[in-house]
Amino acid sequence: MSILKIARMGNPVLQGVAGVVEDPAAPEIKRLIADMIETMIDVGGAGLAAPQVHVPLRLVIFYVPPARNQGDGVPLTVLINPEIEPLDDGVQTAYEGCLSLPGLTGAVPRFTKLRYRGLGRDGKAIDRVAEGFHARVVQHEFDHLDGLLYPMRMPDLGSFGFVEEIRRAMNDSDAFDEGE
Ligand code: NI
Repeated sequence: MSILKIARMGNPVLQGVAGVVEDPAAPEIKRLIADMIETMIDVGGAGLAAPQVHVPLRLVIFYVPPARNQGDGVPLTVLINPEIEPLDDGVQTAYEGCLSLPGLTGAVPRFTKLRYRGLGRDGKAIDRVAEGFHARVVQHEFDHLDGLLYPMRMPDLGSFGFVEEIRRAMNDSDAFDEGE
């Protein structure tokens, strides 16, 4: 296993539409998943999409610590060729960060409840309903597969800035997602 280099905003690999994973059981996909997990743990992130490690394929990983989701955590999840579907019109705005925009944060509206489907690490189907932070992480990672970074989802760039500055101004360290 190895720790992978993370692409930052401006790198073309983050701007395209990623391709479908044709063979989820292929050895190179298994190796990619193992390396992405190691990389995400190393940087202390909550999520990582394959294009962020210079692989333009539809594969994401994420983890929801219980403390971030009203005690309702989600174990490390691998999602291959995901699809998402909002379940109602509810939208919530909260600050997000991204490993491809280190040190920055901004307030992003996201659907509060959605259903997502895809294949897991073992090749079995995953079909879940997500709310709150869990739903936010899934939307953020899914966007990476279509070349979208969170500032492109911000209706008001006035909330975009450096974490250190905004945290100081708000005096609220809990307002931010760590990593992604
Ligand atoms: Ni991101």
